[in-house]
Amino acid sequence: MDFEIVNGDVASCETECLIVGVEADAQLSPSASALDSAAQGYISDIVNGGDIKGKTAETLLLQKVPGVKARRVLLIGLGKADERNDRNYRKIVKAAMAAVKGVSVESAVFSLDGLGSNDDDQYRQIRHLIEWAGAELYIYDETKSKKADPLALDKIGVLLSEDDSELGEYAVLDGVALVNGVSTARELGNLPGNICTPTYLAEQAIKLGEENDALEVTILDEDEMAQLGMHCLLSVGNGSEQPSKLIVMHYKGAEDADAKNHVLVGKGITFDTGGISLKPGAAMDEMKFDMCGAASVIGAMTALCEMHLDLNVVGIVAAAENMPSGHATKPGDIVTTMSGQTVEILNTDAEGRLVLCDALTYAERFEPETVVDVATLTGACIVALGHQATGLLSNDDDLANSLLQAGEQAADKAWRLPLWDEYQEQLDSNFADIANIGGPPAGTITAACFLSRFTKSYRWAHLDIAGVAWAKGKEKGATGRCVPLLAQHLMNLAADD
Ligand code: BES
Ligand code: MN
Ligand code: ZN
Repeated sequence: MDFEIVNGDVASCETECLIVGVEADAQLSPSASALDSAAQGYISDIVNGGDIKGKTAETLLLQKVPGVKARRVLLIGLGKADERNDRNYRKIVKAAMAAVKGVSVESAVFSLDGLGSNDDDQYRQIRHLIEWAGAELYIYDETKSKKADPLALDKIGVLLSEDDSELGEYAVLDGVALVNGVSTARELGNLPGNICTPTYLAEQAIKLGEENDALEVTILDEDEMAQLGMHCLLSVGNGSEQPSKLIVMHYKGAEDADAKNHVLVGKGITFDTGGISLKPGAAMDEMKFDMCGAASVIGAMTALCEMHLDLNVVGIVAAAENMPSGHATKPGDIVTTMSGQTVEILNTDAEGRLVLCDALTYAERFEPETVVDVATLTGACIVALGHQATGLLSNDDDLANSLLQAGEQAADKAWRLPLWDEYQEQLDSNFADIANIGGPPAGTITAACFLSRFTKSYRWAHLDIAGVAWAKGKEKGATGRCVPLLAQHLMNLAADD
């Protein structure tokens, strides 16, 4: 798909489908008004007839409007002025894309005035349009024998005045990079556990490295991890036929030779049966999504490479498959982590923290300025925050606030939970330095407390995406969250440095 900025007057815009807004109570937006003047009242006549009222995301397709160059005009409801928020803007883009896809046109142009959230500046408005229009074009058909018909649509334009075009071009470039990052994460998330194994994830990272000069990719196999003492990570894959991998993607984009590294760490459990602490059968298939933290790190690295950010970033993926077998780790087993701390594994289903802790210790070698890990870590996070917000826990207020702000900017929101010392004692063990579970109360917090034992030497934040990484029901599939948040965070860091 080509996304592009187009200039000129709305009535003479040449496209197969021109998209303009109608506000609540059937008020024409400025661009709809301009079209109406060119069409000598043709549009206001239809709108006044009651065919479209201007409710959020309502659509009405008009053909061959007199005096207008575009072959079709799609009127789209913008709702009331005080309803223009990110959520409604996304609904509007989604409805517009559904209407455009429905008529199999090759090109469409959005005229933006009135569209968008009240919080938007023009950059954000355009970038979100691209991101969300792009998301509507994603189709999963990799494992279907009958592939989706190719879409006729191959060009989406954004109509802007010449003065705004330069800003618009930046917004399009960033928006497209984000579409690619999010689609990459969704595709990896959606692939089943028998295809998307730790080895497969490693291969995808290697491919990304081959495509980008600034990205150096190294894969550590089980022997190399054992040499480093990563016995906690390795214990998770013990029951699996699939070898565990540590994937290290080093992006060296900083101009400044002294620039420090920012590290992202992703949980890459390519299937989580729970191990010997076997999960119940219902919906267990969804545990193929337990590598969505890894997918969002790979997705963010994809976007980062495409945006050529002036930054050094290390993406680390801790990849393993959690299976029961005669070789599997058992409840009560004690393992030694790379940090030297011992862990009593009371529940083999609390495996995410076991792979992450060694990856977080490994991160120390990059002398990081910040470390952010991303994981589908706890069912408790869904109880706490539902399917809307990513859970955020951190040992550094500035980093936490930056991530919260990046989430707001990117419309990929997070919400902070406390990480107070009071919770740490839930992890006491009579047999090891730490237990891997903290009992039923505050499961998301005690999981983060576990990780915090391995992140003392740097500024760190943890993102629990258990509630947001995939959708259930009719739209079942990976969402690509929190690629936008991570990418925005990196963009903000690059702009600050
Ligand atoms: N991957 C799961 C967490 C999860 C469950 C995410 C459901 C999304 C939906 C994780 O490995 C897990 O099993 N966590 C346990 C921890 C418990 C044993 C302390 C959980 O949340 O039940
Ligand atoms: Mn688990
Ligand atoms: Zn898991």
